[in-house]
Amino acid sequence: MNHAIALLKFYLDAGVDAAIEDAPLSRFGMAGARMEAQSAPPPAIAPRASDTSAEPRPVPARSAPPQPSAILGANDRALAESARTAAAGAQSLDELREILQRFEGIESLRGRATNMVFADGNPEASVMLVGEAPGADEDRLGKPFVGVSGQLLDRMLGSIGLDRTRFYITNVCFWRPPGNRKPTEAELVAQAPFVQRHIELVRPKILVLVGAASAHALLGTNDGITRLRGRWFDYKSTGLAAPVPALPIFHPAFLLRQPAQKRETWADLLKLKTRLAELG
Ligand code: URA
Repeated sequence: MNHAIALLKFYLDAGVDAAIEDAPLSRFGMAGARMEAQSAPPPAIAPRASDTSAEPRPVPARSAPPQPSAILGANDRALAESARTAAAGAQSLDELREILQRFEGIESLRGRATNMVFADGNPEASVMLVGEAPGADEDRLGKPFVGVSGQLLDRMLGSIGLDRTRFYITNVCFWRPPGNRKPTEAELVAQAPFVQRHIELVRPKILVLVGAASAHALLGTNDGITRLRGRWFDYKSTGLAAPVPALPIFHPAFLLRQPAQKRETWADLLKLKTRLAELG
């Protein structure tokens, strides 16, 4: 094996499977800059999967789809506005998928992903789960939650009698962020109208918000997932006749790293089971 292939194999084994920058960057000679960088604030792009930080603030009693925040630029807000117009035109899930597939502007994601990851499961089911963003396996297969954490999620739901014929599942981000980074706020805000329309078209009886990113995007709060999980919120949207009860839970990727927290998730799943039984 020549050196270049051996190096690529080393990168792959280490989980480096995507080019993040457009141009190569030489790290040699950066040692001097490193000392300064260490005292600088952390980069905006943090590794994702299941932040659990909790700020002890009361959770708002009602929820509302998030609006573009003040820190977004004019271009980001214009993009969110055109996403809102585009998403509003969808009268069915097939139309929404097609409109999203053609929607230009989220090139930081779309341009680098193999597949758009729209949804899986049964759109007629009572329960709709919304996660964060596809990873490498989801990107390859074009389906949400098919990797290791998805398999854990399936087992968790199976324990209360739900499989993919009895739930529908999607994400707040429809393309894999390169290198599994967290989706940026601008990317999430641009996709938010599609997520909102997705929920309006499915009209689930219950929403399960899988992980902090989903809970933050759909409940419009920044409270930590540790505070939010296991509590019922109302998801409201102009296109829904009534609020949908929404239950945040820990992300399975977090549970894989912190198995002791599975106990809390079991309690949350029992709440989901009870609520489903009440709804009939
Ligand atoms: N994690 C998510 O949040 N969504 C997926 O589809 C896969 C992993």
